[in-house]
Amino acid sequence: MNLLSFTVVLGLLVGTWAQPIVRRPLCDSPEAEEAALVAQDYLNGQHHHGYKYVLNQINDIKVYTKPDGDEYDMEVDLLETDCHVLDPTPLANCTVRPKVQTAVEGDCDVVLKNVSGVLKVIAFKCKSEVSTEDLCLGCPTLLPLNHTDALDFVQASLTSFNNMTVDTTHVLLEVGRLSSQIVSGGPIFITEYVVVEGNCTEDPCVPLNDAMATRGICTAKGTIAQHSVDCKMFSTLIPIVDANSTAAADPLLPPAVHVHTHGLSHKHGHSHHKLTALHNPHQNILLSAESAEVVPVVPAAAFPAADPALAADYDTAGESLQSKEPPLFFRKRDVSAAIMVDAPAAQTGPVSLVPVCPGRVRFF
Ligand SMILES: *[C@@H]1O[C@H](CO)[C@@H](O)[C@H](O)[C@H]1NC(C)=O
Ligand SMILES: *[C@@H]1O[C@H](CO)[C@@H](O)[C@H](O)[C@H]1NC(C)=O
Ligand SMILES: *[C@@H]1O[C@H](CO)[C@@H](O)[C@H](O)[C@H]1NC(C)=O
Ligand SMILES: *[C@@H]1O[C@H](CO)[C@@H](O)[C@H](O)[C@H]1NC(C)=O
Ligand SMILES: *[C@@H]1O[C@H](CO)[C@@H](O)[C@H](O)[C@H]1NC(C)=O
Ligand SMILES: *[C@@H]1O[C@H](CO)[C@@H](O)[C@H](O)[C@H]1NC(C)=O
Repeated sequence: MNLLSFTVVLGLLVGTWAQPIVRRPLCDSPEAEEAALVAQDYLNGQHHHGYKYVLNQINDIKVYTKPDGDEYDMEVDLLETDCHVLDPTPLANCTVRPKVQTAVEGDCDVVLKNVSGVLKVIAFKCKSEVSTEDLCLGCPTLLPLNHTDALDFVQASLTSFNNMTVDTTHVLLEVGRLSSQIVSGGPIFITEYVVVEGNCTEDPCVPLNDAMATRGICTAKGTIAQHSVDCKMFSTLIPIVDANSTAAADPLLPPAVHVHTHGLSHKHGHSHHKLTALHNPHQNILLSAESAEVVPVVPAAAFPAADPALAADYDTAGESLQSKEPPLFFRKRDVSAAIMVDAPAAQTGPVSLVPVCPGRVRFF
């Protein structure tokens, strides 16, 4: 009996000692923002399809003091912009997609380490979701990227575009977005896709395998019979990595063009581009500990059957980086449960409470 309680007490003590020291900086502190921006740039560097994401809110941050450098465990919300990942426009100049465009939102847990003064992402886990708020009758509806009619429309509009250019023929590199809208004249398509200069020595043309091949993003709207198409070629003079990117991420412009005829040849359809879901090469314990909060809603094996659309949502651009683990659902965190700290001691009168986290909302 005594031995047992002694063991329990010892166990508790050891447990206490083993706990690392945790700091909780304010979510809007410069320290948290610096780490969040490193995470943002890194996450953007990890996906080579779809659009760039921008930080919207820091939901939580914990800093574990470790002898070999502090470890940051953060939760951040990101929003989809209208800049494709291949677009060299700096993130600061990209426009956040409004909710009516059913933007994709990313909810990410990121673990960073301060290695001799430089913050580096060591693991992350993201859940993407489509914002379906503010939908209206007559608003564009997002279509899956394998939607046959919409893809036919994309090809038709690209043919029109190629007919307008004299020397170059462009071929489809990636379908970014497909949507349809009901207007007075009937349904129309609204699409966005990335094109690259083609090599047309053989028929059909194939993407020119050259890092200097011009690429651009096209927006086409209308029907196969009648449409407008507008392509904006990316400037090749601007470095593709954002000036302030810490470049911890892979450089976005590969020496050779990676040709993904995504959308057209992709076997498993998916509704839209998403952030890479999981990257934890060193099995980081914080992210693993975090999994305690993760509730797999359905057994992995039953998952695709349960909702193929949702399963398909877990298309991950960085397939090579993707762990083989099945997608997990996060339990929606109770963001309203902000941690409160006492107001400065100097203050007299009623003690006011200052929410530490989550931090401010940058967009919506
Ligand atoms: C980004 O925005 C700044 C200020 O608005 C502007 O000076 C700069 O030219 C823009 N850069 C690009 C690549 O659009
Ligand atoms: C990282 O650690 C260095 C000391 O090694 C410190 O000066 C710096 O402020 C830390 N950076 C962050 C963002 O905490
Ligand atoms: C290409 O454009 C010309 C007019 O500029 C038009 O006559 C022709 O039908 C177009 N061809 C295709 C395939 O759209
Ligand atoms: C175009 O493709 C052909 C093969 O179809 C290849 O032999 C040729 O080198 C390519 N040209 C360029 C400029 O990439
Ligand atoms: C880059 O960072 C510097 C200082 O950290 C800041 O003044 C500047 O506005 C940033 N530029 C962009 C494009 O974010
Ligand atoms: C698109 O992909 C979904 C999910 O894989 C599949 O169920 C559907 O049949 C595909 N649609 C087309 C038109 O290929």
